[in-house]
Amino acid sequence: LFSAVELAPRDPILGLNEAFNADPRPTKVNLGVGVYTNEEGKIPLLRAVREAEQARVDQALPRGYLPIEGIAAYDAAVQKLLLGDASPLIAAGRVVTAQALGGTGALKIGADFLKRVNPNAKVAISDPSWENHRALFESAGFEVLAYPYYDAQTHGVNFEAMLAALNSYAAGTIVVLHACCHNPTGVDLSEAQWKQIVEVVKARNLVPFLDIAYQGFGDGIDADAAAVRLFAGAELNVFVSSSFSKSFSLYGERVGALSIIADSKDEATRVLSQLKRVIRTNYSNPPTHGGAIVATVLGTPALRAMWEQELGEMRDRIRAMRGGLVERLKNAGVARDFGFVNAQRGMFSYSGLTSAQVDRLREEFGIYAVGTGRICVAALNTRNLDTVANAIAHVLK
Ligand code: LMR
Repeated sequence: LFSAVELAPRDPILGLNEAFNADPRPTKVNLGVGVYTNEEGKIPLLRAVREAEQARVDQALPRGYLPIEGIAAYDAAVQKLLLGDASPLIAAGRVVTAQALGGTGALKIGADFLKRVNPNAKVAISDPSWENHRALFESAGFEVLAYPYYDAQTHGVNFEAMLAALNSYAAGTIVVLHACCHNPTGVDLSEAQWKQIVEVVKARNLVPFLDIAYQGFGDGIDADAAAVRLFAGAELNVFVSSSFSKSFSLYGERVGALSIIADSKDEATRVLSQLKRVIRTNYSNPPTHGGAIVATVLGTPALRAMWEQELGEMRDRIRAMRGGLVERLKNAGVARDFGFVNAQRGMFSYSGLTSAQVDRLREEFGIYAVGTGRICVAALNTRNLDTVANAIAHVLK
């Protein structure tokens, strides 16, 4: 049966973890996967999470199945985070939310659902995009296109080319957009640009699928949801995949959600019924633990305030690390101006390092980055900054 099965390549991001874990060098640094580590180089267990978790453990609850769409309080909290507490769409019952297995799981159930609704549509992702977007939509049966996004010369967005591509797509094309903290580039659209994108998406009858895995890592919870809210306000059917892996530091709990905006409450009911069929045939219903913790934190004012503070601390520390890297690269004698790293947002920097330079960082220094040159600045700390900056300086010579 398996004699003709070929060896698949390692995953470009998670495969780096495997190589990193096997590396015996004590000075190794993992700037590959998008995971926030604190000043001690550890994945934090947030205080708000610990408190919610402790309260849950103390209750010694039974472990029944969740509803197919997950915990109702969780789904409601997700909608408010995305659309704001006073959203008229929520009040009108037009938003469908299903708990999902992380952001990836949300994308997958959204993709599978869309394949049923509009099987001949194509999907367009940004160039570049998160390494898994193309594979995920292709595995759901879609042809995947790429619209221009990053301009390596300016370290900004090639906005005219992006608009032109969107304008050329057939009606029904699903356009995957990073709502904030673009992965991998760290370069986001301005609010004025988002408004133009919304106009084009609406005029061309495209289907926006917003991926928001880093809400709170850019400018704050509400500010980072601005694009989602612009689309929501434009009377469009919007798909949103959200993740709490990073914002709650709950990576392994797989806590995400898919939200869909429908035209009416009746339509929302029908959409949810079909989405539940997709979920049931994929994994039946979601796990309880992570969703329950997030629901508790978001629904308990004291814990919510604690979480927002901790999220703010993570955001500020990442910013400080960006500044630290730029400064140290300069001090290490690097002639190239890395100031653009300060303007990028979220966990990543598209550093401009070539794949050969990334290979050298790994081989000579045990510093792991994605082959595209993406580095996770959220994994920098004051202990490894010098090592990283000096190594980058070395491979740039
Ligand atoms: C990343 O881009 O590194 C993260 O989103 C983790 C992942 O699943 O790839």
